Amino acid sequence: MTELLTSTADAAAPPRIDADWWRQATVYQIYPRSFADANGDGIGDLPGITSRVDYLARLGVDAVWLSPFYPSALADGGYDVDDYRNVDPRLGTLADFDAMIAALHAAGIRLIVDIVPNHSSDRHEWFRQALASPKGSPERDRYVFRDGLGANGELPPADWTSMFGGPAWEPVGDGQWYLHLFAPEQPDFNWRNKEVREDFLTTLRFWSDRGVDGFRVDVAHALAKHLPEDLPSEAELQAMDRATGTHLLWDRDEVHDIYADWRAVFDEYDPPRIAVAEAWVNPPSRRARYASASGLGQAFNFDLLEADFDAAAFRGIIVDNLDQAAASGSSTTWVFSNHDVVRHATRYGLPPNGDRPRVHNRAWLLSGGAEPALDAAAGLRRARAATLLMLALPGSAYLYQGEELGLGEVAAIPAESRQDPTFFRSPGVDVGRDGCRVPIPWTAAGDSFGFGTADAHLPQPEWFGALSVEAQSEDPSSTLNLYREALALRHRLQTDESLTWADSAEEVLHFRRANGWEAVANFGTTAVPLPAGEVLLASGPIDAAALPPETTVWIKAGS
Ligand code: GLC
Repeated sequence: MTELLTSTADAAAPPRIDADWWRQATVYQIYPRSFADANGDGIGDLPGITSRVDYLARLGVDAVWLSPFYPSALADGGYDVDDYRNVDPRLGTLADFDAMIAALHAAGIRLIVDIVPNHSSDRHEWFRQALASPKGSPERDRYVFRDGLGANGELPPADWTSMFGGPAWEPVGDGQWYLHLFAPEQPDFNWRNKEVREDFLTTLRFWSDRGVDGFRVDVAHALAKHLPEDLPSEAELQAMDRATGTHLLWDRDEVHDIYADWRAVFDEYDPPRIAVAEAWVNPPSRRARYASASGLGQAFNFDLLEADFDAAAFRGIIVDNLDQAAASGSSTTWVFSNHDVVRHATRYGLPPNGDRPRVHNRAWLLSGGAEPALDAAAGLRRARAATLLMLALPGSAYLYQGEELGLGEVAAIPAESRQDPTFFRSPGVDVGRDGCRVPIPWTAAGDSFGFGTADAHLPQPEWFGALSVEAQSEDPSSTLNLYREALALRHRLQTDESLTWADSAEEVLHFRRANGWEAVANFGTTAVPLPAGEVLLASGPIDAAALPPETTVWIKAGS
């Protein structure tokens, strides 16, 4: 296989110090409080990550994306940041951070950290100062304050709803209110304020100087806001056009002035630091602005994550995103799971019902996993097939911790153990995102399945044991070994960012990369003939002549 599949990088070679390393990287998202707990307090930490670098290296990822590890009261899982240039003491110290990055780099793994610029936490020094300072003060200008309505400002400035449910304006007791698009503990910054702009540049340099290779930019499309004197109602806001860069809150064109400043900082480093925008924009063509080389450089494409397991849907999304990436000069990103959505091994095992991936099959979540029935085997079979298809695509692949174990969503979490603010702000409507954030199982039995020595901060179900790293490591047919083999092959086979479609039946997707590496995915319910060529890897059992339903194979084209 090696001579035909001319590789651009050898699996054993150290990573190229190459400004384009991110374009087709495999990036593994770590939600640090749920990855590995080294100090036995039930919460994952940075030394826990350092202790698992060998695992990450064996898995074969090119980079880690680390969700927030900053000091935080955890009103929103760490996306409420008290101090952007420090480590949560429960997770470690700056010295632990340095040790972690050194260990990752020594293993050839790069590090991308999450940056949360739309809002701080309400415990951030600046927000405390804003509360202690009078209306109209420079301290309040760093956030979005408004006078309330009514004789004494006792009514909110507008009836806006926050993303987690409930009102988006919070009173501070002197007739003024502040804006929080997310939880009340997450006051929105005023990005017209010069100090805010400068401070984030300082933060980007702080982590870049410590060696981080890039940044994942949280709600990148919300920073620029235009609040007119007379605020519109929630209904008017909802009706506003989001496609023209003029919506008052989301995806305004001038947000890119901010990212031009950031780019100048990224380019101070060699290789330049990279960034990927979390920007839920519509139409998808608006992503190009975030992905441009003069801006953040790359933007998440959540299209596959939002799609059902369906050949036509996948094909349309792949074609569209490769076109968009080519037009913007960026590479696209593929992702099925992250810390905000129901895990894809579960989504694919539930009947599609039009719910968004974050609440996929709301009825199932609300019933604690009872109704409708989950077909876990089908979900995993489809997840493996979809992932193997995705890993053969040009562009970068983002994986979420635990998906390499085939972990499903944990639906049965008692109310008293839940942590996500959505659960508390949307009673009976949305159980929130805790089900994909349960600490991952390392061992088949024992204290918190090897996560740590104390009970995990979110309860792990019994069925986690059978999916643990220990249970799968030596099993050649396990999901873990499918990922390991796929990532090793992907590393070796990665070639230019093009693909060619081969003719195939309606339920089948079949494409070829420039070096003869092919992927064939059967989304249908009946077996189809297996195209000619040597099978390199399969997402499930296959026989010599047929590709079974809901299975993907990688093949080397027949000569
Ligand atoms: C992003 C994060 C999510 C967080 C929200 C507010 O969408 O991915 O977890 O709750 O931003 O920061």
